[in-house]
Amino acid sequence: MPDQTMSSTFDSAASTFEHQRSLPREVPEAIRAAIWSITGLSGPARVLDIGAGTGRIGRAFVAAGDSYFGVDTSLAMLQEFSIDAVNCTLTQADGNHLPFSDRSFDVVLLMQVLSGVDDWTGILDEARRVVRVGGCVVVGRSSNPEWGVDTQLKKQLKHILEDIHLAPFPTEQSRRQAMALLESLAARHTHAVAASWHVLATPNAFLLRHRTGARFVALPPNIQKQALEKLGAWAESTFGSLDAEFAETRSFEIDVYEF
Ligand SMILES: C[S@@+](CC[C@H](N)C(=O)[O-])C[C@H]1O[C@@H](n2cnc3c(N)ncnc32)[C@H](O)[C@@H]1O
Repeated sequence: MPDQTMSSTFDSAASTFEHQRSLPREVPEAIRAAIWSITGLSGPARVLDIGAGTGRIGRAFVAAGDSYFGVDTSLAMLQEFSIDAVNCTLTQADGNHLPFSDRSFDVVLLMQVLSGVDDWTGILDEARRVVRVGGCVVVGRSSNPEWGVDTQLKKQLKHILEDIHLAPFPTEQSRRQAMALLESLAARHTHAVAASWHVLATPNAFLLRHRTGARFVALPPNIQKQALEKLGAWAESTFGSLDAEFAETRSFEIDVYEF
């Protein structure tokens, strides 16, 4: 039963999420292959995807025949997923309170989820509760080069927000802390680059995408407006034009924690 009261900062991003944050088609398949190779899984598995979103990554697990369960607090994100989803179970639920029994999954995915949440301790407790002995929790994220356009814009946005909002704007901190905890508890930890690909990055694409970023939309509207104006002006003077294209290599990194 959909819970309309469980609103999410991702609701407003749902319809544009896959377009603005697209991954090449082979990347989700490569993520699954890397997990299977690291853990020695051979056939289909029971997979729980916490923060499944629109199915950008989860769809590859469904297509491979896994018994796939996706949960997300955002009904709008799951509705996008359900447009072409068959043979999988999608449930609106908070990762802090998973509606599943103990030790019932072989693989628990946390793909691009931990950087955007403050309540990661509850999510990790639940992920560890539902993974079977010998199963794994996988943290995944796409990564950009240090010198890349997106990385530079992200850093500048953080400075701008700290200047006008007078408070630290956390970005990667939650994910790093969560991964340190998982590392201390897991029997084995393996880091891998599951896939790399080339893009033509523009400052404009970052600006458009960031308007719907989860932490960003949670800020007061006047702060968002000021920050985007300042960032746009900075980008124009730094890169020459908002539409200037820069060739970059992106990758998708996974950390597999076996329990
Ligand atoms: C950046 S999106 C990633 C979606 C998907 N994993 C992917 O990589 O395409 C993060 C997702 O996590 C969901 N999310 C955030 N906090 C959550 C929580 N406590 N429980 C379940 N889902 C959550 C958001 O609603 C959003 O759909």
